[in-house]
Amino acid sequence: MTRQLHLNLFIHGRGHHEAAWRHPAASPLALTDIRYYTDLARQAEAGRFDSVFLADTLAVGEDVARAPRSWLEPITVLAALAGATESIGLIATCSTSYTEPFNLARQFASLDHISRGRVGWNIVTTWLATASGNYGGQGPLSHADRYERAEEYLRVVCGLWDSWSDDAVLDDRDSGQYARPDGIRALNHVGEHYHVSGPLNVPRGPQGRPVFVQAGSSVTGRRFAARHAEAVFTAQMEKATARDFYAELKALAAETGRAPEQVLVLPGLSPVIGSTEAEAQRFVRELNDLSDPEVGRKRLSGRFGGHDFSHLSLDEPLSPNDFPDPATVQAARSRTEVIIGLVRRERPTLRQLLGYMAGARGHFVTAGTPEQIADLIEDWFRDGAADGFNLMPPVLPAMLEVFIAEVVPLLQKRGLFRAAYAGRTLRSHYGLEWPRTVS
Ligand SMILES: Cc1cc2nc3c(=O)[nH]c(=O)nc-3n(C[C@H](O)[C@H](O)[C@H](O)COP(=O)(O)O)c2cc1C
Repeated sequence: MTRQLHLNLFIHGRGHHEAAWRHPAASPLALTDIRYYTDLARQAEAGRFDSVFLADTLAVGEDVARAPRSWLEPITVLAALAGATESIGLIATCSTSYTEPFNLARQFASLDHISRGRVGWNIVTTWLATASGNYGGQGPLSHADRYERAEEYLRVVCGLWDSWSDDAVLDDRDSGQYARPDGIRALNHVGEHYHVSGPLNVPRGPQGRPVFVQAGSSVTGRRFAARHAEAVFTAQMEKATARDFYAELKALAAETGRAPEQVLVLPGLSPVIGSTEAEAQRFVRELNDLSDPEVGRKRLSGRFGGHDFSHLSLDEPLSPNDFPDPATVQAARSRTEVIIGLVRRERPTLRQLLGYMAGARGHFVTAGTPEQIADLIEDWFRDGAADGFNLMPPVLPAMLEVFIAEVVPLLQKRGLFRAAYAGRTLRSHYGLEWPRTVS
């Protein structure tokens, strides 16, 4: 079968540019209005996207007075989207550091039933330091601890999803036999961090378990992804680093005995699209003019676990010495590596760096015509940098609409992207194997 491109729509605020929420092309709906999310999911489905994705943070940002986010809780939103769509995959972020595994296993199994097999879980360990204040207040876990707990967590939730065999439910009304007793088994997990008896109190979902998505890119994060992820979201600022990341992750997956094509690499892509290059650049300028560097400075501080950047002048060139060593950062470590890499290469001023980060927080941002965007996508896809993209439209819904109307048909004409869904589950859209079933 020819290799097919995958497209995921990352819904975030009123678009991924920091100033999108104020732009006239952004949705007039409130960010707490479910119609905003259902409209976007339906549009992405009409564009034959594989999936939509919702990120999640577990504490309000310090910049809340001047920067809104997506506010509704992702699992709840996915339940609504499942009812509003037919085929598109639905991926929600949920934290291994701040959610009981039994709760998570139960919610995602329920969502897989509700959506009839379209659910994915973005497995995060939560980098945001202030989240711990909302969950017991014992202080944030270190980067290493978070990933160590996540390993045990995965064993527990997989055990719970496997605690029902595929054919456990008989629902035989004549004989009065609802389930096969030998198809349901306890888990009795006793580990360092979790004690969970099981079995789960929800039968096995249509996909067996949700599709596993992962978005950590540090060395530890990559190893974790190679062991468990079926799709990997990653922030890359240029094609060369994207190719390195792609090659390394596929090699790591092969080392763990997995088929490399069963681990899809989907870098973020935030395209500003215009009918001419000049029009696209005008749109970029409009967005940048609406940005507030002090919002950016607070966000930068959050990525570095609260590091103080207030003394840095906006208009002097930065040096890597202005930043803490990424190895000491317990928050978003891989993103800090991306940021310092850019500073080392290009020596931007703080204002320039914040301008770049405002585009899509360190993901790849580009501006051009539909043909130029389609060329870029094809190039990365064919040249070992991506299996598809995590599309991060700078303004929603405007830039999604243009992408679907102008770029998707080009990709379809080139034979890269589906014109119709071949199946109805996220696993089939992504071309993933079914997880081993228990008997
Ligand atoms: C596209 C994308 C989406 C992400 N979404 C979330 C999120 O919703 N919540 C979160 O806590 N971290 C999120 N992250 C961060 C990572 O999952 C990871 O926790 C963080 O990068 C720190 O781990 P690392 O140092 O291994 O990269 C996201 C990262 C990427 C690239």
